Amino acid sequence: MSVLLILILLVLSGLDHGLVSSDSVIAPASLTVDASPGKERKIPDTLFGIFFEEINHAGTGGLWAELVSNRGFEAGRGGESIEPWSVIGDGRNVDVATDRSSPFVRNKVALKMSVLCSGDHGSNNSCPNSGVGIYNPGFWGMNIEDKNRYNVILYMKSSRNLNVTASLTSADGSTVLSSTTITSGGSKVESEWAEFKFTLVSNGTDHNSRFQLTTTDNGIVWFDQISVMPDDTYNGHGFRKDLYSMLADLKPRFIRFPGGCFVEGDWLKNAFRWKETVGPWEERPGHFGDVWNYWTDDGLGYYEFLQLAEDLGAAPVWVINNGISHHDEISPLNLSTYVQDFLDSIEFARGNSSSKWGSVRAAMGHPETFNLEYVAIGNEDCEKEYYQANYVIFYKALKAAYPDIRLVSNCDASSHPIHHKADLYDYHIYTNAKTMFLRANHFDNAPRSGPKGFVSEYAVTEPHKDVGNGTFLAALGEAGFLIGLERNSDLIEMACYAPLFVNTNDRRWSPDAIVYNSWQQYGTPSYWVQHFFIHSSGATYHPVKLESIDSNFIAVASAITWKQSEDGRSFLKIKVANFGDKDLNLDINVVGLSNHGVRSSGSMQTTFKGELTAENSFDDPKKVIPVASRIENAGKKMYIKVSSRSLTSFDLPLIGPSIQI
Ligand code: AHR
Repeated sequence: MSVLLILILLVLSGLDHGLVSSDSVIAPASLTVDASPGKERKIPDTLFGIFFEEINHAGTGGLWAELVSNRGFEAGRGGESIEPWSVIGDGRNVDVATDRSSPFVRNKVALKMSVLCSGDHGSNNSCPNSGVGIYNPGFWGMNIEDKNRYNVILYMKSSRNLNVTASLTSADGSTVLSSTTITSGGSKVESEWAEFKFTLVSNGTDHNSRFQLTTTDNGIVWFDQISVMPDDTYNGHGFRKDLYSMLADLKPRFIRFPGGCFVEGDWLKNAFRWKETVGPWEERPGHFGDVWNYWTDDGLGYYEFLQLAEDLGAAPVWVINNGISHHDEISPLNLSTYVQDFLDSIEFARGNSSSKWGSVRAAMGHPETFNLEYVAIGNEDCEKEYYQANYVIFYKALKAAYPDIRLVSNCDASSHPIHHKADLYDYHIYTNAKTMFLRANHFDNAPRSGPKGFVSEYAVTEPHKDVGNGTFLAALGEAGFLIGLERNSDLIEMACYAPLFVNTNDRRWSPDAIVYNSWQQYGTPSYWVQHFFIHSSGATYHPVKLESIDSNFIAVASAITWKQSEDGRSFLKIKVANFGDKDLNLDINVVGLSNHGVRSSGSMQTTFKGELTAENSFDDPKKVIPVASRIENAGKKMYIKVSSRSLTSFDLPLIGPSIQI
């Protein structure tokens, strides 16, 4: 163990919040970056990515732009509940009930609406002028914006010809933003479902709108599979644009999906089943995710995840259920359907379009194969009774059919050897800021001969008073950890924060990286820390030595060189995370850059600093974000102040040929 590390451990051992107090406020420190040829190492192309889990309404009511919640009335799972749909009108005028008359075989529930009032104003039970019907508020209000287009698809049949008005309105229905009237015709009573497709163009903005279907015509009408999609989604692929661009800004090199515990389920019957999430959206049954306790229509299904990865230029990491949930397990003797499902999922992604499952993908609009090279077997299941036996069966089946696919085991090999073959192993860490910062060293002595490390979930989560819904302190702890991962990137191939998304109307887990409601969004400090690492994947790592004679010194540093693809220019990027409460007077020396100089202009310093408990919010989304400024007189030798409790990067443009390896 290095003297520096011992020093750090001694200092941190007596801390309460992980912060050092001291009389003096400035400490001298020196940082040597050794860029000598032969000392460098290539960082894996996949080092930093993202982890998407369907938690906190990350997909449904989040990234997936569908505005209708429970579009097929299936969320009540055959019962009478049609939440969040509500009825417009009272029992004298209208009666609604679910029945099983849907034209879609995998999701038989439809809504039957009996209109008891009449459009005849002379009648003694005439309908209200605005009609009776149903409305859907979406996910805590639909964001409808002026002049934007909303594509509606719905299925309807009726007992007689009925006019139905489809509208986007304010939350109470009093202001109509857009509407159109469609006619359901029914001479062949109860037998003819018809699809209706139309576009509503809004004449106003309301972030808390609803979609409604109303009529003043007496009769019976059935509805099923009702979708309202904004026309303007990323690439027309259904992803909410503002949230997609926050992901793209992280330049993720991989995306792990769709969980997390979501993959396992509390019970196997509620786990994610990929085959039920592909094909036409109308035919997907949806399912209740019983770990995070909400329904998803599965509009964001296996195909859409692969499409998302492709759009982001990120390698998909497909996490599959290997017959294990939180409370029940399939024994290795009964695993064959799970294994076949697994192999079929790979064929769906990689099989040519004449293969059984490749043809389903092609019919969905993607005849080319998806570039699936990573699969994880289960989530946090290593200690479960059948995990290892099941894992081995999956491993053998996969490698026999697809030897190139890299397989991730749930069993952490960083501290103990594991007893089965794997290409990578999962490592999850949720802890306090102090411990996280110190985990910068966790992999220093981990075995190098076995599988590679995949830090597939990390986050500062404790104690609540320090992390709230995402504080600067939490992010600073993570910054130190990530610098440690760069240093250990000969072993660590991938790393991602968890969870990625939260809709503030349904926080199931906190903190998270990206926060939103129907129309607003911001990044927590943990999101902004990840921006310091967007050039690291595939870059060249150079060893550094960071030292101080100060006894309260707690800091880590890293240095990379990377090439900007647009213009081929190379940069040296130095990062310093200072967890201590003293500013550092930092003497920086870059040695070994023999064929390179630092350009006289264009060097930047980016500082991320804030009150320890500061958080961003909808009212103040940029309260704690990195701030960039020019460095005058940048060069191979610099004398620069680094603030206490900060993450700082120095970006120096280099003269001379690229030193990428
Ligand atoms: O990230 C939230 C949850 O934490 C994940 O679902 C699970 O893998 C972990 O326990």
